[in-house]
Amino acid sequence: MLKTVSWISLLSKMMSDKIHKVLFVCLGNICRSPSAEAVFKSKVDAAGLSNAFEIDSAGILSVHAGDAADARMRKHALARGYKLESRSRPVVPQDFRHFDYIIGMDHANISDLLDRAPDLESKAKVSLFLDVAPELKRKEVPDPYYGGAAGFEEVLDLCEAASEKLLVKLQHES
Ligand code: 4NP
Repeated sequence: MLKTVSWISLLSKMMSDKIHKVLFVCLGNICRSPSAEAVFKSKVDAAGLSNAFEIDSAGILSVHAGDAADARMRKHALARGYKLESRSRPVVPQDFRHFDYIIGMDHANISDLLDRAPDLESKAKVSLFLDVAPELKRKEVPDPYYGGAAGFEEVLDLCEAASEKLLVKLQHES
C-alpha cells in the first residue's frame, strides 16, 4: 500500500514538473515572435516557473537568419523592461517534434506552419497566439515591420495580455 502511494506521489510530481516547450513563430522572427518570447519568458520567470518551461522563437522566412531582433522592436521592448536577445532562425522540421506548443502570430503564419507540419500530431500543436485571450477581440498580432512606433507598442500590448493568459492556461494543463 505504502509503495503504491509513493509511486502515485512520484508520478504526480513528475507530471507537475513537466516541461512545457513553447515556440513562438512569426514571419521574420525579428519583431513579433522575439517579443512574444521575451514577454512570455518574463511572466514565467516572475511566476518562479522558469524550470518548467522551455521557450524559443522562430520565423517562417530564413532571410533574417542570424540577425538580432529589429532595432525598433528592441528599443520599444527595452522601454518596458524586456531585453530581446534572440537571433532569428527559421522553423525547422525538428521543431514539430520537439515543441509541445507552436504558436503563430497571424493567420498566414498558421497556414504556413500547417503546410510544413509533417503529421497530424504536429498540426495539433499549432495555434494562434491571441486565441488564448478572446476578450481582446483580436485574432492577429499585426506585423509592425513597415509601420511606425504605434505598431511596435501594439505588439507589446498584445504580447503582454496574451502571455498572461497563456501562462494560466499552461499551468492548468500541468
Ligand atoms: P516579424 O516582422 O514577422 O514580426 O518578424 C517582419 C520582419 C521582416 C519581414 C517581415 C516581417 N521581412 O519581410 O523582411
